[in-house]
Formats: sequence, C-alpha cells, structure tokens
Amino acid sequence: MGEKSSRIQDFHKMSFEEKLKIVKEFSNLSDEEVNLLKSMGSLDRKIAETMVENVVGVMPLPFSVAPNFRINGRDYLIPMVIEEASVVAAASNAARFMRDGNGIISIATDSIMIGQIYIYGVKNISFASQIIYENKDEILKLANETDKYLVNIGGGAKDVEVRAIDTRNYGKVLCVHLLVDVKDAMGANTVNTMAEKVAPFIEKLTEGRAILRILSNLADRRIVRTRAIVKKEMLGEEAVELIAMASEIAASDPYRAATHNKGIMNGVIAVALATGQDHRAIEAGAHSYAARTGRYTTLSFWEKDREGNLVGTLEMPLAVGIVGGSIKVHPITKIALKILNISTAKQLAEIMGAVGLAQNFAALRALTTEGIQKGHMRLHAKNIAVMAGASYEEAEKIAEIMVNEKNISFYRAKEILEDMRKKS
Ligand code: MEV
Repeated sequence: MGEKSSRIQDFHKMSFEEKLKIVKEFSNLSDEEVNLLKSMGSLDRKIAETMVENVVGVMPLPFSVAPNFRINGRDYLIPMVIEEASVVAAASNAARFMRDGNGIISIATDSIMIGQIYIYGVKNISFASQIIYENKDEILKLANETDKYLVNIGGGAKDVEVRAIDTRNYGKVLCVHLLVDVKDAMGANTVNTMAEKVAPFIEKLTEGRAILRILSNLADRRIVRTRAIVKKEMLGEEAVELIAMASEIAASDPYRAATHNKGIMNGVIAVALATGQDHRAIEAGAHSYAARTGRYTTLSFWEKDREGNLVGTLEMPLAVGIVGGSIKVHPITKIALKILNISTAKQLAEIMGAVGLAQNFAALRALTTEGIQKGHMRLHAKNIAVMAGASYEEAEKIAEIMVNEKNISFYRAKEILEDMRKKS
C-alpha cells in the first residue's frame, strides 16, 4: 500500500465516481465505506447523541482528498474537510512541487502533554517548589495510578516542573506542570484526570489551594518540525525570491504573520476535521506557540538555499490523536484514518505539518504572483452557476465565461445557462 503513488494527474478533472474509485483502490476501502462516503455525510442519530448534547440534526461539510503528497518517503492521499474553496486544490498542487526524493520531511517529538495545577495561598514559593521536586516520584506514582493501560504501553506521567506566576492582584501563584506522554491519544482526558488526582497531594505539600487543574493547550513539548524544498527550475528564480521576501515580511509583522499562519492552518485544520481532532486545541496551541517569545510571528519560514532553491521549514505544536475522543466513533473519521493508513499519532502530526507547509507555500506562491482572487473567483463562479441550476459540466463552462466577462452573478449565470440549453 505504501508503494502506491499518490501522484495522480488531473485528479480534479475526474468525475466523483472516478475519484472515489481511485481512493477505494489506493486505500483498500470496502464497498460499505465507499457507500458511506457516497451518502454525503449521513450520521447515525445514536452516534451523534453519544458525541454531544441537544442534537437536533447534523451539518455535513465536503470531504475531499488531496493527491500528490509524498511525506517521509511515502505517498499519501490526504483527507481534508473544509468549507473554503481552493484550499484542497492548492494543497494538491503544492504537493507536486515537493515530491522530489523522499518528498516533504516531517518529524514529530514524543506525545508529551502538559497538565497544569495552579496553587494559590502558598507562603514560601521557593521552599514549596523544592518540596514538590522532592516528592516528584510520589506525584508521578499517583498520577500514573489513573491510567494503567497508558503506563503499560510506555506512556504516562514522566516528569514534574514547578513555576511561579506573578499575578496582578493576587501575588505569586505556584504552577506545577505534569509532563505526560499520552502516546497515540490527544490526551486531554488523561491529563485532566491526572491533574485532578494529584492536586490534593500538592495542596498538602504546599499548604496552598488548587484553583485550576487542566492541560495546557500550549503543547510546546509536542512539536512537529517539517521541511520541504521547491526546486528553482520548477518555480522560477523570481518566485523563489518573492516568496522568501513575503516570508520575511510575515516574520517581522504580526498583522501579516496572522494571515500567513492562517494559510498554514487551512491545511492543518482541514486534516484535523477529517480525522476528528479537537481543532480548537490545535488552533490555540499554534497561535500561542507563534507568540511564545512575547511577539507573535510565523510558524514557518521560507528562504533561498545555496543552489537558489526555495526551502521551507515549519515548527508548531500538534496535539492530535488516533484513539479516544470521537475518533473511533465517527464513521467518516475512521475512513479518513484508513485513507492515511497510519498507526501512530506522531505520523498524523507529521502529515498535518506537511500539509500545513504545502498549503502555506501554495498561498505565498499565489499571492506573490497572480494573486489569489483569480482562482477563488473561478470556483465562486462555478458555485453560482450550480446554484443557478447548471450541471457540473455546464457550470465549468459558465464559470469560464463569467470570469472572462468579469461579471459573476446569479442572473448572468442563469442567462448563460438558458442560452446554452437553447443552443444544444
Ligand atoms: C486564505 O484562506 C489564506 C491566505 O490568506 C493565506 C495567506 O495570506 O498566506 C491566502
């Protein structure tokens, strides 16, 4: 399966059925799984009701795949769920530029999450910190009693750190970090349970009171580092220079950095949604990491190497899981994970980093050359044509006419459609 190529020429031009056939073959999907995808998002009411409260319906979003990705020497079709036009097309296109050799290289650290216990009312902060460190083994033992399975597979609470936080009105607050290897889970439940378990013991040690016992979404011990090269022959020397310049501008200006990072998150979150991740946690982690020096900056950087090629690097936290939460409950996320054919959360983080970097490249390339509106407008025009009653094939033609005329509207689409049908 790993040997199958994900480089698929003109995938976007194929029919829905043809695309599905390719995904089925690439990922060995069963007929049942294919039918589930074809059902366009029906979710069993019972499943929906086990996920959240007060369910009164479902809200389907398009589930797409991006071909062409080669990551760490393996080819992938990337499942993406997103409401924004152009993102999937841009990712697929960018991945073509980054396929050389082993493709995009992406490595994730171990899945270390931070549980935080904040203690107020501590008299001697330094002394209390020392006492906590002296009792580290006991704290870890207590924490690990809550998840024997995790400990058995080599995970669990591994270390303790103590910090003192200055507050505006309440003086110094002690903060104990519990570092937990959550392995293949996102880890929120595990870490929160551990934080709640050890808090009374820490209160006793410090003679203070615990006020907060929860994970930190600034998952800076759970990082993915990704790099990609785009050959100057593929891109053109001017584009290399312009993308490097755009990257420098973003790194220096938080107003641009926010948008630059949004482009990265278009890719990251689309995969997160497809695979059932807590995307709010990923967003919170990404942006707090981007501001970790006290000044908000970019998660990625693009430069020109000695040979004149464009090289991109990305570093960001990614708290993702392939077990727990709704991941193994929701039938479509199960299919998304099957399409990826991965066995660890680290692999998923590596893939998401790669998609984020590719997405970022696509945006910068479009912005520094023809601008992004042209592509957007074509898709927008196609959507309007479909709304006006056109078939997929008719919509393609109508969109082209409206873009050329620079007149994209529902009424114009209707007019062209009527005209087209009269003539045929
Ligand atoms: C739009 O969803 C994303 C971009 O704004 C990203 C960027 O500006 O780099 C195009």
